[in-house]
Amino acid sequence: PFTHAAQVCHWAAHYIAKRITAFAPTAERPFVLGLPTGSTPLATYQELIRLHQAGSLSFRHVVTFNMDEYIGLPATHPHSYHHFMHEHFFQHIDILPGNIHIPNGNAADIHVECRQYEDAIRECGGIHLFMGGVGSNGHIAFNEPMTAFDSRTQVATLTDITRQDNSRFFDNDLSEVPTHAITVGLGTLLDAKEVMLLVTGKHKAQALRAAVEGEISPLWPISCLRLHQRSMIVCDHAATTAL
Ligand code: GLP
Repeated sequence: PFTHAAQVCHWAAHYIAKRITAFAPTAERPFVLGLPTGSTPLATYQELIRLHQAGSLSFRHVVTFNMDEYIGLPATHPHSYHHFMHEHFFQHIDILPGNIHIPNGNAADIHVECRQYEDAIRECGGIHLFMGGVGSNGHIAFNEPMTAFDSRTQVATLTDITRQDNSRFFDNDLSEVPTHAITVGLGTLLDAKEVMLLVTGKHKAQALRAAVEGEISPLWPISCLRLHQRSMIVCDHAATTAL
């Protein structure tokens, strides 16, 4: 593990940059990147933006798929994941707007939206590298405990603990936190050619313990990573304190 969370984020950004550059993407053969929201990856986005602004990284031939989005928040809402991604990443890089995919939490038919999201990933040939974070209860994207490992993009009901954790973004007003979200499934995640999770902070220590030392079980969604040939966890020292 790295000593500080900042080192985790820095390393992750450079790993992504290395993967994109080595792939040498073109319009016909883009690099497909899965992306999370949350506070953990913020510094990774900042470093990717810095690399782009320094001229050493282009996203012109990168296609992105975000992991999740709240249901019922307008895309312009300051806490929608659409807003988050544009604010913290997309507006600062040279990605083509048509290459950005984020589930539409306001679709007229949410179930059709989920199916179409899966189809879009498949049509792109699958995700090359999926970056993710983890919730304190081990959730990935919004796949809460007891989600099947072969789940696909679907509607998730958020647990109390996740809503509580995320209420800090809603002025600590729990009643403002949506109760449902669209999320890629654990099966969608495990289909990616490579998965990289960022786990930082003492409050993630139990999740990291479950991922590394616990049983592979839907009780801890993060443990599904052990079923993947090319998955890795990048963590800081604080997150390892329960190992
Ligand atoms: C939300 C997101 C997850 C994210 C988690 C942890 O629940 N849906 O994808 O991993 O928050 O966020 P943070 O990085 O802020 O701890």
